[in-house]
Amino acid sequence: MTPLISRRSKALSGSAAVPGDKSMSHRALMIGAVAIGESRVRGLLESEDVLRTAAALTALGVSVTKGADGAWRVLGRGVGGLAEPATVLDLGNSGTGARLLMGLLASHPFTSQFTGDASLNSRPMGRVIKPLEQIGAVFNAREGGRLPLALTGTAEPVPITYELPVASAQVKSAILLAGLNTPGRTTVIEPKPTRDHTERMLRHFGAEVKITDLDQGARSIVLTGQPEITARPVTVPGDISSAAFPLVAALIVPGSDVTLTGIGVNPLRTGLLETLGEMGASLTVANRREEAGEEVADLHVQAGPLRGVTVPAVRAPAMIDEYPVLAVAAAYARGETRMEGLSELRVKESDRLRAIAAGLAAAGVGIEEGEDYLVVNGTGGPVAGGARIETGLDHRIAMAFLVLGMAAAAPIVIDDAAPIETSFPDFAGLMNGLGACIEEEKQP
Ligand code: S3P
Repeated sequence: MTPLISRRSKALSGSAAVPGDKSMSHRALMIGAVAIGESRVRGLLESEDVLRTAAALTALGVSVTKGADGAWRVLGRGVGGLAEPATVLDLGNSGTGARLLMGLLASHPFTSQFTGDASLNSRPMGRVIKPLEQIGAVFNAREGGRLPLALTGTAEPVPITYELPVASAQVKSAILLAGLNTPGRTTVIEPKPTRDHTERMLRHFGAEVKITDLDQGARSIVLTGQPEITARPVTVPGDISSAAFPLVAALIVPGSDVTLTGIGVNPLRTGLLETLGEMGASLTVANRREEAGEEVADLHVQAGPLRGVTVPAVRAPAMIDEYPVLAVAAAYARGETRMEGLSELRVKESDRLRAIAAGLAAAGVGIEEGEDYLVVNGTGGPVAGGARIETGLDHRIAMAFLVLGMAAAAPIVIDDAAPIETSFPDFAGLMNGLGACIEEEKQP
């Protein structure tokens, strides 16, 4: 374990480009793998999670390589063209990698074994197993629908109509990817809209995806199965979920002025920007453009006072990964920030509600943890800090608390830097380049 210490930082300044979007990187590789021909992917996130997906696809017979120009090349085998793997597919820490790949393989008639690290092996898979069984796949999972598991895909997949019981882009995407090699139309109904990168990327590769708005924000997504999808170039924008860390750091470290360039601002991902705006953040979204069917922009942020707000449950899907760092912003805001509808945080890379509450309490911040809500009481001044945080194999808990330490009276230590590799390799380097003071803790 490599502990990191984050000390009070001087004003952050400058411009930075964060690594590529994790959600889009997984999808570019998986959809490229079943398109015909060679897709070039620029800006791919080269993190532990995405490299696990690349390795799994290699085991399924797909050539995935990095070219001298830095772009990745995926030589697709066509819809239904994946081959039985000779090894166990180890998705490491990645829920997205595991769940989306189970979807893709549900309609391939062979058996695969899935495993992951201690975090992934404790996460619920029943939410994808249930609809994929309806399509015809057979699962043999550990108690409670956990990994490791064996999946035998079906030779005769049945197109289903499935209403999501939880707002989950991973479940939606697993069903749509299974629908690719299924005759007829596969339909997903989502009560609350979740990130639509799969729908956008399927269209980008030439599949027919029909989206209809239903009552009260619900949507239906209909994929026409067995399309001839062909290789396409993809440019992956910067990950807004990674940008969130330098963004909040710049808000809470006095005197900061930072620009983050080329960030994906898909409207189903920008709940944090809306919330920080309501908190009074000086934050502008400039230079909006479109790349590979996704909106991209530069974010400019300046430090300044923040005030507590109520974040409604309906916004949760649009910022589901940003609550750890929002809680850090709330710790520096004046007044109470109430975040509602957070039950999904309990089944992320760790129980994030628990981890946020425990970490903030240890750092001297007033906090109330409910079953599915959090209340953070900020004073508007620096937090005490001086805490040692257990990251529990959770990258976002690790990075959020390093950000907390950047404006705290006493430093914050996280027990292990390794989980950060999941989504944001060189996090410390990028933050230190802007002026942060994050380094390995010298062991006494
Ligand atoms: C993701 C969806 C979200 C998110 C995860 C990435 C995706 O998970 O938390 O980091 O790429 O589809 P859920 O679908 O479980 O909400």
